Amino acid sequence: MKKETDESKLRKLSIIDNSSKTLLAIINDILDIAKIEAGELSINLEAFSLDKLSNNIEKLSLGLLKNKKNIDFKINVNLDDDDDGFIAGDYSRIIQIALNLISNAIKFTDEGSVTVNIDLKKDFLFLTVKDTGIGIDKNKLNTIFNKFSQLNSGDSRKYGGTGLGLAISKKLALLMKGNLSVISEKGVGSSFHLKIPISGEINLDSRDLEAIRNDIYSELSELRPVKSLKCLIVEDNDQSSLLMESIIESHGHLTCAVKNGFEACDIFKEKNFDIILMDIQMPGMDGFECLKKIREIDSNIPVIAVSAHTLKHQIDKVFKAGFNEFIAKPFYSIDILSAISRLVDTSNDTIS
Ligand SMILES: Nc1ncnc2c1ncn2[C@@H]1O[C@H](COP(=O)(O)OP(=O)(O)OP(=O)(O)O)[C@@H](O)[C@H]1O
Ligand SMILES: [Mg+2]
Repeated sequence: MKKETDESKLRKLSIIDNSSKTLLAIINDILDIAKIEAGELSINLEAFSLDKLSNNIEKLSLGLLKNKKNIDFKINVNLDDDDDGFIAGDYSRIIQIALNLISNAIKFTDEGSVTVNIDLKKDFLFLTVKDTGIGIDKNKLNTIFNKFSQLNSGDSRKYGGTGLGLAISKKLALLMKGNLSVISEKGVGSSFHLKIPISGEINLDSRDLEAIRNDIYSELSELRPVKSLKCLIVEDNDQSSLLMESIIESHGHLTCAVKNGFEACDIFKEKNFDIILMDIQMPGMDGFECLKKIREIDSNIPVIAVSAHTLKHQIDKVFKAGFNEFIAKPFYSIDILSAISRLVDTSNDTIS
C-alpha cells in the first residue's frame, strides 16, 4: 500500500523483533505457570559443572546490563576444597530462576552493585542474588511470590514485565524440593536466596513445554486465510500498531494503519475495508466516538476493540458501544487472527 525506505523497514523489523521476543517470553511464562499448576511440569536431571553454570549465567546477564552502565556486576563461585564442582540438577530450570532473579535485580537497581554468589555446601546448591536497588517494603515481602504481583500499580508501565518471574521461580524451586526466599530493605536493596538439593529424588513427568508450544503454532497455521482482507488499524501506539500490521500481513491480508479517530474516519470515507481493529484510548477522538462515526457510514463493518483496559465493566462498556470483539493487550498472534476469522469468512470467495 505504501513505498518504504530501507531505514524505516529496519526500524519496523527491530520493533517487531523486540515485541515478538517480549510476547514469546510472556507466552513461555504463562505456559510454565499453567503447566506447574496442572502438575505437569517435568524436572530433568543432568550432570553439569558449576563452571558451566556460572559462565552461562554471566554471559546471559551481560545482555541485561546493556543499558545499566552504573551497575557493578559480579559473579562468584565458592566450592568446598574437596569438591569437583559437578552436580546433578535441572540445568535449564536453574538458569531460568537465576536469570529471573538477576533481571529483577538489574531492573530495580539504577546504581551500585548486583552480586551473584553460587555456593556448594554439603548436598545443596545455594544461589544468592544481591542488589543495592530500590528494595521492597517489609509488609509487601509476603506477596511478591504471588502470580501477577507487582508492588506498585505503575510498575509494569515503568519497569515492564507481568509479575510472573518470581511466582514461577518459587514454584520451580519447590518442585526441585528446594526453596526461594528474600531479605530486603526499602531504599537499601534486596537479596534473594535459592537453595536446592543437588541430588535425591525428583519427580519426572511426561509432556514437555515444546509440545504445548507446537500445539499453539499448529493452531496458528490452521488459521492461515485463503482470501486476503483489507484491514484498517487505528492505534496511536507505534509498537502495538506495527505488531498488528506484521501479524495481519504475515497471514496474507492488507493493512492500512492510522493514528487516531479523525484519520480513521477520513480514510474510511474514501476507501473500502473488510474489518477494523481499533484502540480505545487515543488522543483527540477515542475509540468509542470513532466507532459511532464509523457506524454512521457503515453499520455492518466488523470492528474489534484492542485495549489494555480489561476489567469486566470496561469490557462490558466496549460491547455495549457496539464493538464486535474485544482483544486484551498485550495480545498474541492467535488473538488477532482468531478474532478476524470469527468475524469475517476468510475462506469465502465473495470477499473482494
Ligand atoms: N530485586 C528487586 N528489587 C525490588 N523489587 C523487586 C525485586 N525483585 C522483585 N521485586 C518486586 O516484586 C515484583 C514481582 O517480581 P516478578 O519478577 O515476579 O515480576 P516482574 O519482574 O514485575 O515481571 P516479570 O518477571 O514477569 O517480567 C516486581 O514487580 C517488583 O515490584
Ligand atoms: Mg521479574
